[in-house]
Amino acid sequence: MTEVKFDPFSVDVRANPYPHYARLREHAPVYRVERSGFHLVSRYEDVLFVLKHPELFSSRAMQMMMLSGMGAGIESMGGQGLDPAALLRLGERMKDLPFDPLQMMKSPALIAADPPNHARLRNIVNRGFTPRRIAALEPRIREIAREALDRMLSKSEFDLVSEFTIPLPVRVIAELLGVEPERRGDFKRWSDALVAGATGSESENRPEAMIEAFTEFNAYFMEVIEQRRRDPRDDLISTLVAAEDGAAALNPMETLMFAILILAAGNETTTNLIGNAVLALLDRPDLFERVRRDPALVPIFIEEALRFDSPVQMLFRQTTREVAIAGVTIPEGAIVMPIFASANRDAKQFDQPDCFRLERNPQGHLAFGFGIHFCLGSSLARLEARVAFEELFRRVAKLHPLGTETGWVDSFLLRGPRRLDLGFDSA
Ligand code: HEM
Repeated sequence: MTEVKFDPFSVDVRANPYPHYARLREHAPVYRVERSGFHLVSRYEDVLFVLKHPELFSSRAMQMMMLSGMGAGIESMGGQGLDPAALLRLGERMKDLPFDPLQMMKSPALIAADPPNHARLRNIVNRGFTPRRIAALEPRIREIAREALDRMLSKSEFDLVSEFTIPLPVRVIAELLGVEPERRGDFKRWSDALVAGATGSESENRPEAMIEAFTEFNAYFMEVIEQRRRDPRDDLISTLVAAEDGAAALNPMETLMFAILILAAGNETTTNLIGNAVLALLDRPDLFERVRRDPALVPIFIEEALRFDSPVQMLFRQTTREVAIAGVTIPEGAIVMPIFASANRDAKQFDQPDCFRLERNPQGHLAFGFGIHFCLGSSLARLEARVAFEELFRRVAKLHPLGTETGWVDSFLLRGPRRLDLGFDSA
């Protein structure tokens, strides 16, 4: 039996996790990380099993992990998973929050909710993400993409991440929620702090920054929620506030938690999708030329990019009772991490999974998850990425890497280039 050692925090894994995932799939399909006690699940069929069974694998782990970022940090959980001392420290920190932490614990964000509460929340927020509503955003998304490209391409060299892949989703989400344009800078700062705190990022996880962000975000959004209740507009907050009066209403804390979730879930993920897709093109000049000449290929290119280099690599669940996967018994209460990005490279599901191929049908990839928690923003993310590439290909015939260090987003849950210094030839 080959012994596998895997440390999701190591520099090696960060640089290229895929050979590590391949070893896990082959030799240790359920792997217990020594440092944290987390169980990593890496094969397609097993990841799907986890996602299909919320009664066995509770999403409450998402809430605990998100909150632990504020007080304890995943690292400090040491060998015990959710260790009581870490939770106590978290409790201490939460005293600094501007609202009752208990109320917050009782109002899990959608992504951390289990049935039947999950269905109640999802039914309400779905109203803000109907196909008609999302499709209606296309002209404005195109305008935002064009403005960002105008600015970026006025220079001969630029960092595509800070100039294009970050500002596009931030502006889209800010406008969707109905945030004033002047507060967009704050919005990005809050989003960064929440994501850094929540994703187990080693060097950037400053719990104080997360508490600060929560406090400011809370103050700002409670005001916006109040305003929209008095004077509704055509934005997501108004839709959610209208839902507060309904029979299965969101309470104000749930509205706030949802706004925070959208802020965190909708920004860096989309940034990373576009960044990873650009990386795939830089490695394959023929592919760049082919998709540029035939924009009808953009949607399938984006699907393959989602499969090939998934922006969300893995997430959390917690077992509700003892359960066996691939012959390994996982105890009740254990933290389980389905690795979406590994499932998407499983040769049992995708032929030649390490090749980027437009010819394949990547349908069934798990980059947006599966089942009841399937990504609420998938249509929006696909739309933003399609518009981004359509507009990029209209303006740019070639991109030239400048050879500077790209680096990776500092998170073991999310994957994307930290910066992309490029030059270009005009189309
Ligand atoms: C490429 C971009 C994106 C990727 C790869 C992505 C990935 C995911 C994944 C894997 C899940 C499943 C979580 C789980 O099973 O626990 C999820 C859920 C979710 N995503 Fe996304 N996401 C993206 C963009 C967005 C955007 C743009 C938004 C919002 C505007 C969004 C909002 C959400 C929400 C609210 C959930 C929770 C749904 C639920 O629990 O019912 N995401 N996303």
